[in-house]
This record gives sequence, C-alpha cells and structure tokens, in this order.
Amino acid sequence: RVPKTIFSGIQPTGIPHLGNYLGALKNWKKLQDNEESSTRLIYSIVGYHAITIPQPAAKLKQERRDMMAALLAIGLDPHRSIIFHQDQISQHTELAWILNCFTPVNKLQRMTTWKSKIATLKNSNDVSEIDDNALNLGLLSYPVLQAADILLYKATHVPVGDDQQQHMELTRDIADQYNRTYKARRYFPLPEHLITPASRILNLRDPQSKMSKSHPLASSRIMITDTDKDIASKIRSAVTDSESGITFDDVHRPGVSNLLTILAECEDSTPQTVAAGLETSAQLKEATAEAVIRTLTPIRDTFHRLSSEHTYLDQLAGRGREQAASIASDTMQQVRKQIGL
Ligand code: ADP
Ligand code: NA
Repeated sequence: RVPKTIFSGIQPTGIPHLGNYLGALKNWKKLQDNEESSTRLIYSIVGYHAITIPQPAAKLKQERRDMMAALLAIGLDPHRSIIFHQDQISQHTELAWILNCFTPVNKLQRMTTWKSKIATLKNSNDVSEIDDNALNLGLLSYPVLQAADILLYKATHVPVGDDQQQHMELTRDIADQYNRTYKARRYFPLPEHLITPASRILNLRDPQSKMSKSHPLASSRIMITDTDKDIASKIRSAVTDSESGITFDDVHRPGVSNLLTILAECEDSTPQTVAAGLETSAQLKEATAEAVIRTLTPIRDTFHRLSSEHTYLDQLAGRGREQAASIASDTMQQVRKQIGL
C-alpha cells in the first residue's frame, strides 16, 4: 500500500507573492503541522519548469536559492518535509519522457495555459509577426513534466491553486492510462487535488485576473518580502467598487471579495465573518493592510536572515536531494521493469 503522500511544487521565478503564499505555501506549512507523522510531505522547487521561459543563468541560480530561503521562511521544516530542487533529480525528466509517450498532443494543445500563452503572444504582436520560436516544445509538454513530478513520488494528494485544475486532471488521466497499459492496477495512485479557500487570489489592480508574477504592474501584487509601507500603499490602491457597505460576493464584487478573502486568510477566519465588522472600503483596506503586515513581517525577517546563507541553503538542498532521489530511483526501477526497458 502506498503511504499518504503529499507533493507540491513552486517555480523558482522570483520571490513568491501573496497569491502563492495564501493559495499554496501557507497550506504546505499547515499540512506539515497537522498531518500524522506517517504522511510523507514532499515539496519541490521546480527549476525544469522555470526554463520553459528563457532565464539568464545567474538569475535562475539566485532565484533557486531565494526560493529555498522563502520555503524555510514560511515555516517548512527540513526535518519533517522533504524540500528539494526538482532539477537535481534526473528521474523527473526520465519519467516525463515515458509519460510523453502516453499523452496525445491535442490534449496538450487544449490546456488553457498553452492557449493563453498563444493569446498573449498574439496580443503583444501583430498576428503576422508572432514569434513562433517562443512556443517551444517544453512549454507545450510541461504539464506532462508536472505529472511526472507528482507520480514519481506516487503522491496521493497535491495542494495547488485552482489554476492547476486541468493539469491535475491530465495527471490522473496519464496515471490511469499507464496503470491500464501495464495491468498494474493502482500502481500510480490517482492523486487528489487539495484546494484551499484562497486558491485564487486576484490581481489587486484588475480583480478579473489572478495575482501573478508576470503582470507588468508591480503594484498589482504583494511580494512576501514587501515592506510595511509597500503593503499598505498597494492595498490602498486596490480596485474596489462604489456599492455601499462591505459584503462578500465574489461574482458581483470581485475586488471587495478578494480583499475579504485575503483578510480572512490572514486572520484564520471566513470572508463572511470578517465582512460583518466592516462598513466602508477604507476600513476594509486598513484592516487588510494591518493583517497582511502582521502575517508577512516574520516571514520577511526570516527570509532576509537566510537568503545570504548560501552554504546553509545549499547544504539543505543536498539533503533534500538525497531523500528525494531514494524514492525517485525506486519508482524508476519499477517503471523500467514494467515497460521492458
Ligand atoms: P505563478 O503562477 O505566480 O508563476 P507558480 O506557477 O510557481 O506561480 O505557482 C505556485 C503555486 O501558487 C501553485 O500552487 C499555484 O496554483 C499557486 N498560485 C499561483 N498564483 C496564485 C493566486 N493568484 N492565487 C492562489 N494561488 C496561486
Ligand atoms: Na501558476
């Protein structure tokens, strides 16, 4: 029987923002605190995903270390959780290749991440000038790499934001197809998607889209290392609406509801409960800024203390690598045997 195994990953593409934190990382820590000791917790920094968009080498190197510091700063404990760099375990790409051979290309072409990448390119250029070279094969097939990341550890539960719904379905389809092909019933568990209440934090300046690292307006996202002053001013300039009173209604009042979700998450409460005590947008913004500052201050302080400790960060990475490699090499030995390689 496969032990309960929780697996997740984050790209080393800059300091995590509040959406990454409230939607994913905070839950990684919560699972670490609440799961039985028999549950395996495996958290990865997925460098192989980051390079689907060209990265200068020095920047990538820096951001891989920064992400390790950020994961420690949010409270992950390397004695309890396996924390490692996916790009240091060659079995991820080995399994991804095999799973590529189980994945219809047209399924990948239907992924919203792929379609929105094409749409972005079309918007920024004249259609006739689309740079087809930016649409590399890695970008098309990275959901398969993600499936390999998860299945390599026979993960049973995957805590990720709701932007990952389609990728999780693909992962289950691939696992099921593999199991049937090799008559290896339940060899790969079909992993469950663990969604948090804050699985979709919206852009503060455009509450129609999700908060993301790639939006051009820096003030649209709060980084977990922002100063108190930056946090306050970004929340003050968040888009709300002109309705009176403060109510949670994520369809008609996305801006207000987004702030309520952020406030509630920071206070371990619900949006409806925190809304009850508030009358105006100004009050909502003030309360949210205070709560976010209180939540992020210890994280920012720890991040700054750790981020220059390169030797320590690399040591931890080495340890995570050993732990991950031992599981990954077991799986790949079994897979090779099942396939006849
Ligand atoms: P990004 O999408 O900002 O580049 P990643 O792809 O590295 O970040 O995602 C890391 C984790 O953060 C994933 O679990 C993803 O679902 C989650 N996440 C990303 N953006 C948000 C958001 N705006 N709200 C909630 N969760 C998010
Ligand atoms: Na994402």
